Amino acid sequence: MHSEAIAHPNIALIKYWGNREQALRIPANGSISLTLGGLDNRMSVRFDGELKSDTLVINEAPAAPKMVERATKHLDLLRIMADVADRAELVSETNFPLGAGIASSAAAFAAITVAAASALQMELSPEELSRIARRGSGSAARSIQGGFVELLAGDSDQTSFAQQIAPEDHWSIIDLVVIVDEKMKHTGSSTGHALAASNPLQQSRVADAPRRLQACRSAILERDFASLIQIVERDSDMMHAIMMTSEPPLHFWTGATLQVMAAVRELRADGVSVCYTIDAGPNVHCLCLPESESDVLQALASNENASWNVLRAQVGPAAQVV
Ligand code: DP6
Repeated sequence: MHSEAIAHPNIALIKYWGNREQALRIPANGSISLTLGGLDNRMSVRFDGELKSDTLVINEAPAAPKMVERATKHLDLLRIMADVADRAELVSETNFPLGAGIASSAAAFAAITVAAASALQMELSPEELSRIARRGSGSAARSIQGGFVELLAGDSDQTSFAQQIAPEDHWSIIDLVVIVDEKMKHTGSSTGHALAASNPLQQSRVADAPRRLQACRSAILERDFASLIQIVERDSDMMHAIMMTSEPPLHFWTGATLQVMAAVRELRADGVSVCYTIDAGPNVHCLCLPESESDVLQALASNENASWNVLRAQVGPAAQVV
């Protein structure tokens, strides 16, 4: 019982932050993302009755016990559904840095879900796969789908899953990910989500989410880049405002993060259509259209502080068995 899948991380355009229900990862608000083609997590899952426990190797190194525990918890969901007790050997290879705010857990849990379901010969729809992936990592629900994706907040396990807003070839947005720091982030998203509810600002952010989601959906469907970058940058700043004012506060931005943000604003002042958006880490995703890509790259390269590595991703496909 062996299968391999490739899944991609995603970048949230409208962010998921905080859970309505923590254990099931029912998000406090809906979210929208781009699946990131070019950044891959290739996951092999092999169930074997001889194994005593699940094992996980990531980029040729054994994973930390906490990560194996989280993978086991996730595999248990699939094992119960398939009525199988066998433990599994998981081997993951990625071509992007892990734990630095590039949604590595999204790609990992989407890939585990798709590969394990295939190895266990389960026939599941993308909607079902997305619900299961969400239990592993909220943002993983979105990486099941390709293109432009919305995770419906819903109010139960059944109603919280991702669906595609537009396919991969709808609009060729480019994500230039400026890696200002490759280290693992100090606080994982799961810890951060749990802090959000006690922050009084979170209520206003969640209450306003339908408006931001609608603005983002329309901008995508109408390919209106000027409107898109406005709402995307604002939504990212709103989420970081919650993070920074939680107790204890979470500060993911570093000096270099702020320098990239300033460089993006300067580019815009010079007439280049670009915006930044930042997940739970210091690295900065710069979104632009193909005609602006060289201007953005040049500005990042000629920045006085620039020895930053820039990863390039484009709108990518759904998670799939290979
Ligand atoms: C800032 O999906 O990583 O990237 O469910 O605890 O694994 P867990 O959280 P995760 O949270 C994502 C937070 C975010 C915003 C987003 O991707 O929507």
